Amino acid sequence: MRRHLVVGNWKMHGDIQHNQLLLEGIEQGLKNDSNADYVVCVPNPYLFQARALLANTQIAWGGQNVNQYEEGAFTGAVSPHMLTDLGCTYVILGHSERRTLFYETNLTAAAKFDAAIKGGLTPIFCVGETLLEHQEGLTEVIVASQMDAVIATLGEAAFQQAMALNMVIAYEPVWAIGNGKAATPEQAQTVHQFIRNRLAKRNPQAAEQVRIIYGGSVRASNADALFSMPDVDGALVGGASLLIDEFVAICKAANHYATICEAT
Ligand code: PGA
Repeated sequence: MRRHLVVGNWKMHGDIQHNQLLLEGIEQGLKNDSNADYVVCVPNPYLFQARALLANTQIAWGGQNVNQYEEGAFTGAVSPHMLTDLGCTYVILGHSERRTLFYETNLTAAAKFDAAIKGGLTPIFCVGETLLEHQEGLTEVIVASQMDAVIATLGEAAFQQAMALNMVIAYEPVWAIGNGKAATPEQAQTVHQFIRNRLAKRNPQAAEQVRIIYGGSVRASNADALFSMPDVDGALVGGASLLIDEFVAICKAANHYATICEAT
C-alpha cells in the first residue's frame, strides 16, 4: 500500500515573514489529515526556519537540489550531509529547471541521486519530456533515458536497493510546468504506468512500493482527478505550494484518496 505524497517546490520564492505565515497556515490546515505524507522543499537559506517551525509536525522539509560531493572546494554548493544536518529527509533532483537553466545533464542528476541515497536523503527524481519531444512522440524514450542514467550510475544492486528503500519519481512533463496546462489524468497515468512497468522488470515487488508523483500545474481544482489514477501517488507542486488554501486543498485530496484506498 503506497502512501500518497504531496511535495511543495517553492523554487526561488519566499522571505522570512511570508514563509512563517505559509508554514503555519499549512500546518494548521493539515492537523487532522494524517493519511498522506507532506513535504515542503524550501530554498536553502530557509531550511533553518522550516526546521524551527515544522519540527514535531507531520510536515517534512527538504532541499531543491544537492551537490554530489561530500565536502570540499565547491563554492556555492550544499552537500547531502548539510541537508540532513538541518533535518531534511527529501531532496528534489533532476528538476527540468536544473537541467535547462543550470545545464545539469542526466549524468549529473544521476550522480546527485547516488550521493543523496548514500547521504540518507530520499530523492525525488524528476523525469519528463519537453513540448517538442512530446509532440514528436518521444515521451517514453526520454523518460526511459533519464531513468537509465540513474541505473547506470548506481549499478543494478544499488538501484534496486533505492527502489526498495524509498526513492520517489516525479513525472513532470516540461510542457505542463508553471503554465496552468496540466497533463490530463489519463496522460499522467499512461506515463506513470510506463515508469512502473519499467521498474517492475527489475523488481516487481519493489516497483509496487515506489511512489510516482505527478508535477506540472497541479492545483486544488485538478488534484482529485489526478489522484484518482491508480499509478499517480501524489504531486510535486510548484506555484500552488505558495498559497496556503491551494496547497492545503491538494494535500487534503491526497489524504482523501489514501483513505479511500485503505477502505477498499
Ligand atoms: P508548477 O511547478 O506546479 O508551478 O507547474 C511544478 C514544478 O516545477 O515542480
